[in-house]
Amino acid sequence: MRTDALRRWYAAHGRHTLPWRSTHDPWAVLVSEVMLQQTQVARVVPKWEAFMARWPSPEACAGAELTEVLRLWQGLGYPRRALALHRCAQIVSAQGWPKSQAGLRALPGVGAYTARALLALAFRRPGRPPLDVNIRRVGARAGLAAEPHQVTDAAVEEALMTARPARMSRRDYTLALFDAGALHCRAVPRCDGCPLAGGCAWRRRPPAAAAGERRRQPRYEGSFRQLRGALLDAWLRTRSGDEAELAAAAAAGLQSAADAERVARALHSLVADGLIPAERAPSQAG
Ligand code: ADE
Repeated sequence: MRTDALRRWYAAHGRHTLPWRSTHDPWAVLVSEVMLQQTQVARVVPKWEAFMARWPSPEACAGAELTEVLRLWQGLGYPRRALALHRCAQIVSAQGWPKSQAGLRALPGVGAYTARALLALAFRRPGRPPLDVNIRRVGARAGLAAEPHQVTDAAVEEALMTARPARMSRRDYTLALFDAGALHCRAVPRCDGCPLAGGCAWRRRPPAAAAGERRRQPRYEGSFRQLRGALLDAWLRTRSGDEAELAAAAAAGLQSAADAERVARALHSLVADGLIPAERAPSQAG
């Protein structure tokens, strides 16, 4: 893997206008990383701006009602992330920021990826690279001539760590890798103009290795996750403790019908996750 063109390419073509890139503040970085985990950049930008305008610090967020945080989160999906962020805000405002990877990982919703992203982007500490889907794909292909599902995290990390250009900070290297993955090394790659193309192992792989490399995303339409989302939206709108009313309100936002047993299961899971408080929830869901 050759990265000698990366620094210049990043200066000229990096996505420097992404608003969370203009700060090292760990709260701003955490909010962006949690939002970006499962939501596309274009949808995250306005939500991140609204979130930071409303709750610019862990202290501000800790004082907010969970329902307010969930409301702002609507449209991003995977609302357990909002609950975890709210809990992080409460812990950090009371205890301060942990600075070690283990301490960061003890925060709710912060896994290995997010802890490493915080260390690299906010705290400027040494450590292994954060592997999100883009960075993992770049490292697997450019470094190991493989698709990401064919290699281990450890192998990708080694390839990336040994390839950091001496004149790039860990922060800029990480941001440049996000961008190479988002702009060039996509699921269907656009190698033209890619700063890594010159030394990319994947481009030189034997043709036999190229067979059967694609993987599909699970469908959202008709999924349990979609049903949960519709029910949570309905609850935030109506605050109704009546299961039939919630099911009807949720059904309006769904294209496929959901049977009563699935609705009850989805409600139960929302209560179990702490997204709908048990005392306000429909009786069967508690
Ligand atoms: N900039 C900082 N973190 C990012 C991420 N996870 N994805 C895309 N751009 C980013």
